[in-house]
Amino acid sequence: MTEVPDTMLAWTKTADKTGGFSRIEHDVPKPAEGEVLVKTHSTSVCGTDIHIWKWDQWSRENVPLGTITGHETCGQVVALGPGVESHALGDMIAVECHIACWACPRCDEGNAHICENGSIFGVHSNGAFGPYFTVPAVNARPVPPGLDSGHASIQDPLGNAIHTLTGGPVEGATVAIHGLGPIGLFAVNAAKAMGAAYIIAVDWDNTYRMELAKSLGADLVLGKENDVVAEIRAATEGRGVDNSCEFSGSPQALSNTIHSTRMGGYVNILSVYGNPTPQVPMNEIVFRYLHIKGINGRKMWSTWDTMHDLLEQGLIDVNAVLTHRMPIDSFEQAVELAIAGECGKVVLDFD
Ligand SMILES: NC(=O)c1ccc[n+]([C@@H]2O[C@H](COP(=O)([O-])OP(=O)(O)OC[C@H]3O[C@@H](n4cnc5c(N)ncnc54)[C@H](O)[C@@H]3O)[C@@H](O)[C@H]2O)c1
Ligand SMILES: [Zn+2]
Ligand SMILES: [Zn+2]
Repeated sequence: MTEVPDTMLAWTKTADKTGGFSRIEHDVPKPAEGEVLVKTHSTSVCGTDIHIWKWDQWSRENVPLGTITGHETCGQVVALGPGVESHALGDMIAVECHIACWACPRCDEGNAHICENGSIFGVHSNGAFGPYFTVPAVNARPVPPGLDSGHASIQDPLGNAIHTLTGGPVEGATVAIHGLGPIGLFAVNAAKAMGAAYIIAVDWDNTYRMELAKSLGADLVLGKENDVVAEIRAATEGRGVDNSCEFSGSPQALSNTIHSTRMGGYVNILSVYGNPTPQVPMNEIVFRYLHIKGINGRKMWSTWDTMHDLLEQGLIDVNAVLTHRMPIDSFEQAVELAIAGECGKVVLDFD
């Protein structure tokens, strides 16, 4: 194993403005008690990284200037902090970015993804747009057999998709996926893999992603030319789908999910809304007895277990969703490509 250097160059949010990243020198971190030091293999660009690039209100309130961002990542363990027995040098791991205290009531009840004292790796503290990072050993998840280690960084968004989808019935169910960004595309793929009876994929005008959804198993693809609610009802004998998932962040799509879910059905919402108070047709929710659920992160560890089962069986077409790989030198171009949207997942590789 190559020797770990003392310093490294890492992409860092340094300026209080849109863009505002520079690749600057940092000390390579030392793993504290219970942590591992990881040599980054690859890190993918997430919608959260786009928020931080655009430096919106949420980012300004959450990301300290000087932070190395990037949280969807995988790499090789190169040093162990005191007390770590769960990992060995050379292990390939992928990161669960929700760092939990494992001691609060939410952690005790099995909801560590919403830990009361939680923080997010690569948002609230340094992450993985640099060649080395430290993370609690429990957050360094082994890469399942059957998954190319170069693809392992996409387990964070794939896990988001599976967590959202499994908020309602999937096997034998009718499912609608609203918003075909990388996470929505993974949800189409996962719905197919988990045996959904009929899958409807909805975007606004991104024909590149609509085509991808079709190839991943969507039975019906809808866009801005369609009356989404009427067409979903028509495709489901007038009832609406059993399980609607919202991945677009559009208030219109949120309203569509509620109007096109069957009586007593499930609406699962992962999106973050630019306008935090979108109009919601409340009486539809009440009279139609809908189950509405906000989704955050991935269940630790049941979502990861479900995901590893699907990956081990080769049921997720990672290659189809991972449309672009670029060297880490091209970080700025990668974020701009993700903003433009002519892509699925964009992954940055280290050497
Ligand atoms: N809660 C969490 O833990 C969590 C984690 C990651 C991402 N997110 C959120 O999940 C969402 C999905 O992330 P992503 O990176 O896949 O998104 P993305 O922004 O890449 O894709 C959104 C897609 O929605 C489409 N869209 C726009 N208006 C639409 C409409 N009216 N109907 C249908 N589709 C429409 C866009 O064309 C785009 O393809 C984002 O809102 C993101 O912020 C939440
Ligand atoms: Zn992410
Ligand atoms: Zn906790």
